Amino acid sequence: MEKKFFDKIIHGGDYNPDQWIETKEIWDEDMRLMKLAHINSASIGIFSWSITEPEEGVYNFEWLDEIMDKLHDNGVFVMLATPSGARPAWLAQKYPEVLRVAENGIRNEFGVRHNHCLTSPIYREKVQNINRKLAERYKDHPALKVWHISNEYGGECHCELCREAFREWLKNYYHNDLDELNRSWWNGFWSHKITDWSQISSPKERGEKLVTGLKLAWNRFVTDSHISFFENEIVPLREITPDIPVTTNFMRMYEGIDYQKFAKHLDFVSWDNYPYWERGFNRYISTETAFVHDVFRSMKNGQPFFMMESSPSNVNWHDVNKLPRAETQNTAAIQAIAHGSDSVQYFQWRKGRGGHEKYHGAVVDHCGHENTRVFRGVSKLGSELEKLSGVVGKYSDSKVAIVYDWENSWAIKHYCGYNNAKRDYIEECLKWYKPFYSNSISTDVISMEDDFSKYDLIVAPYLYMLKDGTIERIEKYVANGGTFIGTYLTGIVDKNDLCYLGGFPANELKNVFGIWAEETDALTEKIKNAVIFENKEYTVDHICDIIHSNGAKVLAEYQKDFYKQTPALTENYYKNGKAYYVAFRNDGDFATDFCKKLIEDLNIRSDTDIKTQDGSVVRKRGDHIFVMNFTDNPKDIELDKEYLDVIKGEKISGKITLQTMSYLVLK
Ligand code: GLA
Ligand code: ZN
Repeated sequence: MEKKFFDKIIHGGDYNPDQWIETKEIWDEDMRLMKLAHINSASIGIFSWSITEPEEGVYNFEWLDEIMDKLHDNGVFVMLATPSGARPAWLAQKYPEVLRVAENGIRNEFGVRHNHCLTSPIYREKVQNINRKLAERYKDHPALKVWHISNEYGGECHCELCREAFREWLKNYYHNDLDELNRSWWNGFWSHKITDWSQISSPKERGEKLVTGLKLAWNRFVTDSHISFFENEIVPLREITPDIPVTTNFMRMYEGIDYQKFAKHLDFVSWDNYPYWERGFNRYISTETAFVHDVFRSMKNGQPFFMMESSPSNVNWHDVNKLPRAETQNTAAIQAIAHGSDSVQYFQWRKGRGGHEKYHGAVVDHCGHENTRVFRGVSKLGSELEKLSGVVGKYSDSKVAIVYDWENSWAIKHYCGYNNAKRDYIEECLKWYKPFYSNSISTDVISMEDDFSKYDLIVAPYLYMLKDGTIERIEKYVANGGTFIGTYLTGIVDKNDLCYLGGFPANELKNVFGIWAEETDALTEKIKNAVIFENKEYTVDHICDIIHSNGAKVLAEYQKDFYKQTPALTENYYKNGKAYYVAFRNDGDFATDFCKKLIEDLNIRSDTDIKTQDGSVVRKRGDHIFVMNFTDNPKDIELDKEYLDVIKGEKISGKITLQTMSYLVLK
């Protein structure tokens, strides 16, 4: 499959010419430098509201006209932002309702950014108004290629407008039926029964913070408020510029918004990638980052995404902002392309003289010229990306999927019980992702609502909460021949965090797995259990289910405690497929060893036949093959045939050595 927005890889980033409005010679210098750095796109206007509308209803677009023209004349596309991420002081002063109210009920003062109420009709109106002006003015501008909506939406507001909107949201979700809400939240507990919608508030420290049904509803409401805020922003853009795609930049695995839901509203997904390289475990970071890329690529069924931001050097918000090597940054950029990004974009093009981010890495440093280590690295990468246009728009095809579901992450965070200190959902998913990643097997990371049917193998670690229809979807997938792996604490609660009755995992899943779980044990660092699988012993870390087989074959048993010699790992043939239940958590190699066996059993193939040494990985995208070494040592690669080294433009074959943090692109 293919879906293209451009015919080349986008190389650019956040550009703030408005910060240099009094020294326009810098703008000209920027144009010269952008050419040298092989930049073809600039994201502008991200926080420019106070300059484009200096007073209510008074507009100043001259600077934007000038820079849009200049960028266009210099062959640079524009991703034009709507400015809602930060508002002008006059707006906050005149209409205090646009400012956010914190959980403690106190309204914030003007300041920082992302400090707006999501519900305020005035804010929504003002945002739509400035967006309309932008669309009207630039609808025919040849530089305008993408709408960059706001910037990193996030947070929540507890003002009365938002709380009222929440009550309305609840009425809709619970069919205007207070009894349904009371039942769903188990409100008989601690005398919490609600008799009027007005008694409901947002969850907060000094109020209701323990009703998990309420908390899940609030998470869903906050997601929907962001989506509705976004939909309000784009009304004039869709109307005036229907052909210009819209996106908004997501923040890694940010929990506050269900990105899997939000993504459906975007023309393409984009995200801001700030891994903390160079802390001595680049290999782990590369796995984690690959996982996140795969999460974002999977959100729209494999459609390429954009890496909207990354630092060309260090950031300024870690405790210690270590400088990364140029090779590291460039290998990280190539990794994004390999996993489905159609862009490498930076925050930021040029360091400001002042402001909170003046020490954040940038392509152009305070020295102002191109003779820097970072600039040379960016420029080298830019010239290489120009040779990779062949991958643009290309989907990758995966036969394996890991289920990571945003709503499930909320439910896992909220419950009280089992092992409260250890509930690492992402870590668990990563553990099951790693065996495929390190064997160069393309893997999707999907929600429990995505299409299961195209995969040979699905691993759904820690699928604690099930949405409506999930049980049926898993059942159908396995019945039709799929292989499914579930782990401890699978199918415990429904979407309201109400426990299923009749034993776990819920309902028909007991037949799919051929087991039932009677209890769940929590373990400490000192008190562990053990499991022996194929003559190797694995520790049971932190948590495990005590289960009974109802027809499933027992592949491993617990070694200690009162549940010694009861099943810990089972395999069940169900209709045309197979389901495994891994009842325990292991922080060692179990997932890796077990998946190795499954990869063989199911004949799941690596992306290519290139032989790599442990730690270097290969990804195929279209007819391009990316070979990357994220380890601390050089690695030998054995090519299975003659390839074209796309960057060097030379034929290449046989055995080669890939230096640490380096890459090859082959065809
Ligand atoms: C985020 C924001 C940018 C900038 C960078 C700094 O991604 O979108 O505006 O603050 O972080 O790393
Ligand atoms: Zn509000």
